[in-house]
Amino acid sequence: MIRYFIITLLLTNLFSIQAQKTNIVQMEVDELEAPIGLDNPYPNFSWIIKSNKYNLNQTHYQILVATDKTFLKNSLIWDSGKVPSSESVYTSYSGKDLTYDKSYYWTVKVWHNQSSKPIQSKISSWRTGLMKTSGWNNRWVSVLEEDNSKLNTKSPYFKNEFEINKKIKSAYLYITSKGMYEAFINGQRVGDLYLTPGWTSYDNRIQYQAYDVTKMVESKNGIGVVIGKGWYHGTFMGAEPNNDNYKGDLYSFISELVITYEDGTKENILNDEKWKYFHGAILHSEIYDGEKFNANLINNYWSSFGVDNENSKKAMFDTYDGKLISTSNELIKRHEILKPKKLITTPSGDKVIDFGQNLVGWVEFTSNGQKDQEVKLYHAEILFQDEFYIDNLRGADQLNTYILNGDPNYVYRPHFTFQGFRYLKIEGMEEINLDKFKAVALYSDMKRSGTFSSSNPLINQLQSNIEWGQKGNFLDVPTDCPQRDERLGWTGDAQAFFNTAGFLRDVKNFFDKWMVDLEYDQYENGLVPSVIPDVLDNKRPRNGGSAGWADAVTIISWNSFLIYGDKGQLALRYNSMKKWVDYMISQSKNGLYKGGDHYGDWLFYSRPNDPPGLSAVSNKYMIAQAFYQYSTDLLIKVAKILNKDSDVLYYQGIWDTANKVFHDEYITKNGMIIGDTQTAYVLSLKFNLLSENNQKIAFERLVENVERYGHLTTGFLGTPYLCEVLSSNGRSDLAIKLLLRENYPSWLYPVTKGATTIWERWNGIMSDGNLSDAGMNSYNHYAYGAIGEWMYNNLMGLKVNEEYPGFKRYTIEPIFDKNFEDIKGEFESNYGKIKVSWVRKNGKINLTLEIPPNTSSDVILNKNKNEKNWTLDNSKLSSKIIDRKDNDNKSIFLLGSGEYKFSYVE
Ligand code: BGC
Repeated sequence: MIRYFIITLLLTNLFSIQAQKTNIVQMEVDELEAPIGLDNPYPNFSWIIKSNKYNLNQTHYQILVATDKTFLKNSLIWDSGKVPSSESVYTSYSGKDLTYDKSYYWTVKVWHNQSSKPIQSKISSWRTGLMKTSGWNNRWVSVLEEDNSKLNTKSPYFKNEFEINKKIKSAYLYITSKGMYEAFINGQRVGDLYLTPGWTSYDNRIQYQAYDVTKMVESKNGIGVVIGKGWYHGTFMGAEPNNDNYKGDLYSFISELVITYEDGTKENILNDEKWKYFHGAILHSEIYDGEKFNANLINNYWSSFGVDNENSKKAMFDTYDGKLISTSNELIKRHEILKPKKLITTPSGDKVIDFGQNLVGWVEFTSNGQKDQEVKLYHAEILFQDEFYIDNLRGADQLNTYILNGDPNYVYRPHFTFQGFRYLKIEGMEEINLDKFKAVALYSDMKRSGTFSSSNPLINQLQSNIEWGQKGNFLDVPTDCPQRDERLGWTGDAQAFFNTAGFLRDVKNFFDKWMVDLEYDQYENGLVPSVIPDVLDNKRPRNGGSAGWADAVTIISWNSFLIYGDKGQLALRYNSMKKWVDYMISQSKNGLYKGGDHYGDWLFYSRPNDPPGLSAVSNKYMIAQAFYQYSTDLLIKVAKILNKDSDVLYYQGIWDTANKVFHDEYITKNGMIIGDTQTAYVLSLKFNLLSENNQKIAFERLVENVERYGHLTTGFLGTPYLCEVLSSNGRSDLAIKLLLRENYPSWLYPVTKGATTIWERWNGIMSDGNLSDAGMNSYNHYAYGAIGEWMYNNLMGLKVNEEYPGFKRYTIEPIFDKNFEDIKGEFESNYGKIKVSWVRKNGKINLTLEIPPNTSSDVILNKNKNEKNWTLDNSKLSSKIIDRKDNDNKSIFLLGSGEYKFSYVE
């Protein structure tokens, strides 16, 4: 027994000693952990210092890069030297030229102010891709002309074989497609990515993927590639087949399998004429409509060596004029697997599974059914009057049809489609065994960065709905919705939700990629299309330039810089931002921007029969002028950071003229802003458009308006800023009232109606149980989830500091609202985890904070006038506080790394 205790004691000590350790974690190259297939010749290195030491700051770093793990002289290709710097993100490689298809190893040594000895990271790695953007062999394996018609949506199954005679060191498959692909080697699926190659501005660029297939390659090999229609050939927004995105070269892919032999030689063995194809099990596949799959038309060996697939024909070849780029963002993977909650038989006799959560992905199942039995799976978001409801899907069938093969262990799933659903209607199955069904959530594999919870279960459900809204609409591009015949990269929705998204997940790579596509699809004259990738091109009279939509280019670039602090990225975006502002200038007369076609404050509070005139209609051109100025203002900020002095001067002049016009045109002498809506005041205040006096009046009018309605009236453009403007002007109490309201219209109203995601409309389901117009009524539309940002900034209290972007220094200022007993939040910044949690109990608030190394925080703690100050629970720690100020209403601390516990008697 005693021995047991001693051992436990020793172990505990050992662990606490270990826990005390300062070490380097999360080593990333181009913001990815040990990525493969990177084409960047100057990749960026980032690392996080983990420690529970107080006030720890990096003073120097040294990066070594080598071609093997010995780091011996002949393998060393870069030694940064000991660099005096506290930067631990985006340090750019500047060693010898990198070569293609090669692994590189790196390690970093960090000196910090709490020890004279440096700490050394582990060895991490990355691997280059093909390091060329065009060419490859530009030979895309394709189907024969006669099978290449747009009406033929059968998937071709391409097959090739190869033999290896030498010992292999490594094998990497580089591949991409026009359409979507899945690849197989010797009967096994390659990789764990789905809906590849992802979605880009295909006329300009397609991203390729790299897979380590070293363990899959044998001496005799078969390789197979299946292609589906995908986004590349998508028929978007109900366009007629003649008017879709058909590009005339259906179903092709390009690949290079690069083998490195033990003897150091390399070979690319797929570069031959032997590819054949046949039509297999996927009879039809389409993003909106779903898939038809006949399991009798395929076997598990079709891609194996020596298997001759019936009716195979010789493939033909095709070319591509755009760029092939390596993948720089996290691609789509499988995530949550949900079990059915219950089986429902609807009044009209439909058999429906309820998965309990509106999600995006697909259903997988096994079945004891007979060979050739046809099973149909329909997907819906809601039940209406207890019936399966699909009217809001518009033209999207969301139907997967399977012809069974009689094998009870065969797992059925679709391949080149996804569905937005909570309910699954099953046809063609007598007995439904719930154990055989599961729903698989698919979304871009971004790291989770933020969490938030509170003592209020409704708010927690709202938080969960926001998170699921992000998951379901972040499939390689940010989409408006995932279920109806739309699913497009609407710019306005993306900018409205960006800050919330950036708290919940690491969206840096995701948006960096999308913003490049935005730039590619931006018109010559600077106009930014409404959706990116711009697949609506020429399909609609109104396509782009809409206020609050097109401004995604400036708003996302700036907000991304605030969260991630990547100045290099900001510089890359500058041209595109400038082009958009110049476009607005070209459309304005003497500072008044009245051009264009605008969506306005989309889906604002409006009443169908409105004799009392309660609908909150904001003037579209007032909004356009406000965003024109906001985008110009952001451009000026960026120009300052990038030291573009003449631009700063020029655009400041533009802003000043526009601002004068804003006052002349849209503000009355008494300070009413035209429209007199919450959105009008919120935008003018948030964008800083008002003189001091008008600011006061505008805020009074805003408060009066909110109180008069007793609820919000804002749409897509006003909603993200409404509570923020209330809070930053000292009325968080009103913001909380809006947040906690449960009746329509409010954020919690859908929650009380059982929502598990954010709705497109405030009244997707009306108070009387009826539904809003099926033509536009999505139950998974993240835009109104933008309230998340306010909750994290105010309830948790974490705010960016514009002077120190990327969370190098930030503010923590929770509002300790009386409606909450506790709030807990975490955010994984570029420098490590920031934690804030507070509990109110028996008239006392206990606050715990964790500040990661190499950062600092201004902690602003509110208190009541003349009451006691906030106190540090462990008074020994007071020496660790860098600075402290107390005034009547606040205690203000400047804190460096470490854990701090404070308390306050109310
Ligand atoms: C989309 C939106 C989008 C809007 C533009 C809708 O069809 O679903 O979310 O921003 O069009 O007004």
